Amino acid sequence: MSDFAQRMIAWQRAHGRHDLPWQDTRDPYRIWLAEVMLQQTQVATVLPYYRRFLDAFPDVVCLAAASIDDVLAQWSGLGYYRRAHHLHAAAREVVTKHGGSFPRDATTLETLPGIGRSTAAAIAVFATAASHPILDGNVKRVLARHAGVEGWPGAPRVAAALWDLAQERLPRTALAGDLEAYTQGMMDLGATVCTRTSPRCAACPVAADCIARREARTEALPSPRPAKPLPQRAVRVLAIERNDGCLLFERRPAHGLWGGLWSLPECALDADAGAVVRARFGVAASGITALPPVLHGFTHFRLTMHPLRLATTDPLRHPSIAAEPDRAPGNLAWLSRHAAAAAGLPAPIRRLLRSLGATEPTSTLPALSP
Ligand code: ADE
Repeated sequence: MSDFAQRMIAWQRAHGRHDLPWQDTRDPYRIWLAEVMLQQTQVATVLPYYRRFLDAFPDVVCLAAASIDDVLAQWSGLGYYRRAHHLHAAAREVVTKHGGSFPRDATTLETLPGIGRSTAAAIAVFATAASHPILDGNVKRVLARHAGVEGWPGAPRVAAALWDLAQERLPRTALAGDLEAYTQGMMDLGATVCTRTSPRCAACPVAADCIARREARTEALPSPRPAKPLPQRAVRVLAIERNDGCLLFERRPAHGLWGGLWSLPECALDADAGAVVRARFGVAASGITALPPVLHGFTHFRLTMHPLRLATTDPLRHPSIAAEPDRAPGNLAWLSRHAAAAAGLPAPIRRLLRSLGATEPTSTLPALSP
C-alpha cells in the first residue's frame, strides 16, 4: 500500500474538486478571501459571495480603503460577521504594515487578524506550494478517524496530537502540485467522503488502514465535546406525616417545574423546617428526622432533594386542608400513601415515598371538614 499522502494526492487528482475559483490563482489575497469565507461556510454558499466580493474589492488595497459598512454589505448573508471585521482589519494591516503586499509565508500570515494556524498554512500552501499541515474541522475528523484518536478535538491535548499527526502525514517527497493536491485532498475528503454522518468509506482512499473503520467506530470518532456539567440545585422536601400515616401534599403552581402535580411541600435548605410547617400549614412537628437525599436529573439541571420527615400529632387545625384532593378547593391535601400513589406525583417524589413506605400505618382517619 502506498503511503497516506500518496493515496490522498492520487485521490484528489481523480475525485477531488478542481474547478473552484480560488484554485486557479497564486494570489494570496484571493486565496485568503476564499479561506476566510470557507471557515464556517460550505463551498456552494461561498461561491456567489466570493465572486461578488472580488468584483467589489479586487485587491487588498481596495478592501483596505473601503468602509466597514461597504464590507459588511458585501458579507451580508454569509454569517459570522466577526470574519468580515477581521478581514477589513487585516486588509488595513497589510497596507499599513506590509506596504500593501499580501504576505505569503505562514508565520507572517498568522499575525493578521482572523488568520489562525490552519488558515495561514492553507494560504501558504496554495499560494507558494510550501509544506505546512492544515487542521480545520474536516481534517480533524479525517485524522481522528484514520488514526483512531480519542477525545474531543477542541481539547488542547487532543488538538496537539492531531497537529502532530497532520505534520507527520505531509508528503515527504513532493513533485510539482503535490502539496496543493494533498492539502486540497484532505479538505475534499472531509467535506465529501469522510462526512460527519454516514461517511462513504467505500470511496475513501485511506479506508484500508483507517482505525475507526476497522473498529466500526466512525460514528464515535471524533469524540463529541463533553457535556457541560449541569447546574446543581438543592431543596428541602417536607414529608409531613400524620399519625395515621397520611402525608401532607401540596399542588404545585400550574406553570414551571412539575406544573399542576401534587407534590410534597418544599422549603429552602437552611430554613427552620419546624417553623415553616407551623407558619404555612398550622402544623406542629413533634419529631423531625433527616432522610437520605434523592437525586433527580432534569434536562437543564440536577436536583438534590433533602427530605425531612416531620411527625405531627395535631394535624387538624388547618382549615384549608381536605382529605380528598378532588373535593379540596385549596392546594393542600392529606393523602394516604395509597391515595398518593393514584395521584399525579413527580417520579422522584414517588421514589421518595417508596423509601418512606415501609412504616405506613393501615388505619384511616375520617375526612377533614373544609
Ligand atoms: N474549505 C476550506 N478551504 C477550502 C478550500 N480551499 N477548498 C474547498 N473547501 C475548503
